[in-house]
Amino acid sequence: YWIVDKNIDQERTKAQINEAGMWIKKGEVIAFPTETVYGLGANALDEQAVRKIFAAKGRPSDNPLIVHIAERQQLDQLVTDISPQAEKLIARFWPGPLTLIFKKKAAVAPSVTAGLDTVAVRMPDHPVASALLQAAGVPVAAPSANLSGKPSPTSAEHVRHDLDHKIAGIVDGGKTGVGLESTVLDCSGTVPVLYRPGGVTKEQIEAEIGPVALDLALHSAQETPMSPGMKYTHYAPAGTLWLVQDRSRIPELVARSKAEGKRVGVLTTIEHQADYQADLVKACGKRSSLATVAADLYESLRAFDHAEVEVIYAETFPAEGVGIAIMNRLEKAAAGRML
Ligand code: TXA
Ligand code: MG
Repeated sequence: YWIVDKNIDQERTKAQINEAGMWIKKGEVIAFPTETVYGLGANALDEQAVRKIFAAKGRPSDNPLIVHIAERQQLDQLVTDISPQAEKLIARFWPGPLTLIFKKKAAVAPSVTAGLDTVAVRMPDHPVASALLQAAGVPVAAPSANLSGKPSPTSAEHVRHDLDHKIAGIVDGGKTGVGLESTVLDCSGTVPVLYRPGGVTKEQIEAEIGPVALDLALHSAQETPMSPGMKYTHYAPAGTLWLVQDRSRIPELVARSKAEGKRVGVLTTIEHQADYQADLVKACGKRSSLATVAADLYESLRAFDHAEVEVIYAETFPAEGVGIAIMNRLEKAAAGRML
């Protein structure tokens, strides 16, 4: 367990990151911070190493991983056919929270892509992640560093809670910034398709390359998602989560659940915190700045688990900008339960 500073120029920090990089090179699994959430990394060219990720997380083997790189030139080792649109997005958004899907090369370990002929790649925008990727010297396959089905970790403490003793090490670089996973965009076909909304918004992508298609499954329970990971119940707290569109109904809903003898939680924002009484009222950022809501969302969902709340009523957010990613994660956490 290495606690490192974001100021990676310190000698001690450098030595720790190099040590963690050595473990990855040797085929072990290491958790590390990125600007979105913590990742659980292994050498993407080493099939045995990648399998350890699936084992530690309890992740279904049909759910492919994202490969993380430190430099643009590493991409050529992993993929074929980089479209002009993809080149534009790379120039504009890398390093950053945008994952692109390409046709893969044979060097990528089979488990990384779960047997698909495409591979997802991103370049994280975090000094510790970049230094670690440099130290490892190999492309690093990394899903979010949570147990499968739990909210993604936004602090090393979350990683430790889920994976302690199951992995070779954790690089603790403090709280992550964006707080939600990267945007996933498929660039392997003729029209780019958005599989997962995230830190880079659809509006930002379209401003760069024109219209992109949406995976229909993003807004429908019937469709099978193109991105295997989107079909699993993700980000789910242990209690039953309800999204409440008209927040004035929340006090009455809380009272009803209390009358049934349940422990009840409310997910709100700083602006409305004083309007509710429940076993846990959790203010998740400021509604006036959706980026702060994104940054606190997973930590808030975990707090309900710690408080052993059985029912959670959550406010909803406007579906614009990063609000689209927030609502996507909340809808998944609620398994579509909306009032
Ligand atoms: O921000 C992030 O993306 C974080 C940090 C650690 O980088 N990683 C992350 O990984 O969220 P994970 O494994 O939790 O999510 C990866 C998503 C899944 O929904 C997976 O199905 C999808 O990307 N994916 C990966 N490769 C794919 C492929 N070849 N085709 C379609 N979807 C793919
Ligand atoms: Mg994940």
